Amino acid sequence: MDICKVLFLLVVGTWGTLVSGDLTECDALTMICGNLVEEALTTYPNYAEKRTPQLIQRLGYPVEEHNVTTDDNYILTMYRIPYSNSSPPAPGKIPVLLVHGLLASSVQWLWQPPDKALAFMLADSGFDVWLGNSRGTSYSRGHTFLPSNDPNNLAYWDFSFHEMGLYDLPATVNFINALTSQRIYYIGHSLGTTQFFSGISLNPGLASKIRAMFSLATSAYSNHMTNPAARVLAPFLVTPATEQLMNQLGGGQLLPQVMQQYVGNFTAYCTQYTINCGVCNTIFGLLFGIDMCQTDFTQLPGILAHLPDTTSIKTFAHISQGATFGTFRRYDYGLKNYAKYNSLFPPDYDWSKYHVPTVIYYGDNDNIAVPIDVCATATALGDNVVQFSRVNYSTWDHMDFVIGKDADIYLYNDMLNIMRNHTYG
Ligand SMILES: *[C@@H]1O[C@H](CO)[C@@H](O)[C@H](O)[C@H]1NC(C)=O
Ligand SMILES: *[C@@H]1O[C@H](CO)[C@@H](O)[C@H](O)[C@H]1NC(C)=O
Ligand SMILES: *[C@@H]1O[C@H](CO)[C@@H](O)[C@H](O)[C@H]1NC(C)=O
Ligand SMILES: *[C@@H]1O[C@H](CO)[C@@H](O)[C@H](O)[C@H]1NC(C)=O
Repeated sequence: MDICKVLFLLVVGTWGTLVSGDLTECDALTMICGNLVEEALTTYPNYAEKRTPQLIQRLGYPVEEHNVTTDDNYILTMYRIPYSNSSPPAPGKIPVLLVHGLLASSVQWLWQPPDKALAFMLADSGFDVWLGNSRGTSYSRGHTFLPSNDPNNLAYWDFSFHEMGLYDLPATVNFINALTSQRIYYIGHSLGTTQFFSGISLNPGLASKIRAMFSLATSAYSNHMTNPAARVLAPFLVTPATEQLMNQLGGGQLLPQVMQQYVGNFTAYCTQYTINCGVCNTIFGLLFGIDMCQTDFTQLPGILAHLPDTTSIKTFAHISQGATFGTFRRYDYGLKNYAKYNSLFPPDYDWSKYHVPTVIYYGDNDNIAVPIDVCATATALGDNVVQFSRVNYSTWDHMDFVIGKDADIYLYNDMLNIMRNHTYG
């Protein structure tokens, strides 16, 4: 057994066993992971270089690119799958906006085969599919005047999920709504839910353009988060001095840029079999969690070449504040709060302003959106919660919502039924 398998088994395997207790079947999978990765590299030699539009086109789906400028001058790129072979162009298709999680991008929806990947399933079912890319990701680095890659000017990176909610959400929702004259279904994963909750409370008028919101890995209250990467980083990021230091080191960006700068070319790195099986899977596991039985190891080289994507240090600092203090409120500037907010503490996001039918799915083994925190968020949402569903799979984790092998069976089919039947909007 080579060193990378030992590493993999030790770090991810042990951890997985700790969480779920019984993984005999999946341990076997782990052992042959190396062969699967090699096989995957033969099958998809250029997977790593493919970006969202190519990943959509590879399966014969049409793709459109749309740039949207926010009120604070960020330029976001959205991708649209307007129709598909099994659902030709037709007037009146209902738009669905999918928004990815932290350190991810629109590629997260495109890994599985068409009958298992949410974006393709939606297109085949007659929906007009829109994939968002939050500011700061490799897809949405535009700004009308600020550079995103100047180590001497970090102004571009001065945002958190607060600005994604305040500016990105209305810009994208209004754009789609104006183009299609249709109300929208919103599907958020992780930070895609966070920015929706803050965004609607800051722009309550947007609710009239949303049919319903599907919340996968609901992330608003998060102080029971056990994710090791988040727990290790949080103390540094809630301390202004160390947050400042990390900003300087990383050029305003969290993790990936630092890795690219100091560790090497992350993409090239993760698509080499030996390294992949050890270091990159471990990084992926620490960041996102790995559910052995739901992870398709033949997909990991491709996934690891794209995730983690970038975000700002400030986004992670804002999340760390919530994970540390159990709050869901605006960014905490410490001593400068008074100047910013005219109060010692940042204002809470106002749940009473939120009026959107909300469908929640949670996973028992999600170490970022842990069930007890999802419950707290659901309680705050009150009557807005029209459905609260546990994914009936004991080791269901954070990334299973988007790359789980059986996500179609465990939740996508249910979501599609809700949308096709107009159950909640
Ligand atoms: C969107 O913006 C990107 C980055 O500025 C640019 O490369 C691309 O051509 C633009 N796409 C469209 C459709 O305008
Ligand atoms: C990273 O690797 C990719 C794929 O091998 C290559 O195309 C790209 O030029 C590399 N980038 C850097 C900065 O070395
Ligand atoms: C959950 O799954 C178990 C099998 O794993 C099954 O016996 C049970 O009926 C399922 N419950 C629901 C509500 O579907
Ligand atoms: C409506 O929902 C039911 C299950 O609740 C499902 O059997 C049916 O196929 C759905 N109809 C459509 C058009 O999706």
